[in-house]
Amino acid sequence: MPAPQEKSPSRTVSRKADHLQLCISGPVAYEKSTGLEAIELIHCALPELDFDEVSTETEFLGRPIHMPVLVSAMTGGFPEGGTVNEQLAEFCEAFRIPLGVGSQRAALEDPAQWETYRVVRRRAPSIPLIGNIGAAELAAGLDVEMLRRLVEAIEADALAVHLNPLQELLQPEGTPRFRGVLRQIERIVGALQVPVIVKETGAGLSGEVVRRLLEVGVRIVDISGAGGTSWAAVELLRRGEPDGPGWVFRNWGIPTAIALQEAASVAGSEVTIIASGGITNGLEVAKCLALGAHLVGIARPFLQALARGGRRALERYAEELHWQLRAAMFLTGSPDIPSLRRARWRWVRSEPVRGE
Ligand SMILES: Cc1cc2nc3c(=O)[nH]c(=O)nc-3n(C[C@H](O)[C@H](O)[C@H](O)COP(=O)(O)O)c2cc1C
Repeated sequence: MPAPQEKSPSRTVSRKADHLQLCISGPVAYEKSTGLEAIELIHCALPELDFDEVSTETEFLGRPIHMPVLVSAMTGGFPEGGTVNEQLAEFCEAFRIPLGVGSQRAALEDPAQWETYRVVRRRAPSIPLIGNIGAAELAAGLDVEMLRRLVEAIEADALAVHLNPLQELLQPEGTPRFRGVLRQIERIVGALQVPVIVKETGAGLSGEVVRRLLEVGVRIVDISGAGGTSWAAVELLRRGEPDGPGWVFRNWGIPTAIALQEAASVAGSEVTIIASGGITNGLEVAKCLALGAHLVGIARPFLQALARGGRRALERYAEELHWQLRAAMFLTGSPDIPSLRRARWRWVRSEPVRGE
């Protein structure tokens, strides 16, 4: 592989623009599935409720939301990213669902970029908003004062720290330096006024990693498993090396269903689990909730809907998700989200082997 390149403000802008474009129209999906197709919710022929009664209302980070679906961290840090953030924020506010911004590192490198994140709180005054920074930045010694600025910029209700060793490894300008990250996470959990969410970016948190995060005080994890957007594919396409040595990692990662099951088995009732990675419809949202998630994150499908047809396409997609979620609730006899989280399910095919 060519020698790594330096990270710089101008490279950050072109990297972010490449990411957005490749995620809208490039062949960047995993070639393996989330595993959720091997799970079935148990049909209830006696739901003892009317479809009209089914409610997806819930709360997240102390704010009421219309359904437990999050528009996951994607962008900001360059002008088009700011426009996408603004459109997503207006949509999320109208639909009353939470939104995460993409890595805010770009604003630390170039103060002109703060506005591409700030716009989100202006357009979405009432929903839960989540800030975002990379673990590699924490490992490099980013101080707590800077992290507070990221939170304040969007009046965030939580700060997400993303773990992306696979992406950093394959990115031409990546910094695959993760020594000391767990200690840094422990430090910021105690120092910030808002909760810290630790998330993957599509390769999955294992049960073991979740356990170590809980030990240092993290109480919200986003398992972001494999089966959706493959950051290995994105970075390999950016490198223009579709058959370079990194290509064998094209499908590396823990499928979402497996990561979620592992997280649910190690997390106590005080822990909030977000499931994401390859979720595309409301039945998959329902399966994740029954498997133990409190909230389900979706990234690329929202971006693609926005690129396809703007606000109307976003609304149509979200309405479809909402109807499908309610239908799955009705058919499992679950009038509300807590009941759905107790709904019965089973593997209908053999459980996929982790990582395959
Ligand atoms: C265009 C794009 C940019 C992303 N940028 C970030 C980021 O800056 N920080 C982060 O934590 N995750 C980022 N992600 C990862 C998503 O939040 C999510 O974890 C991952 O894409 C899996 O979800 P999906 O299969 O629904 O896309 C990005 C995803 C996309 C599609």
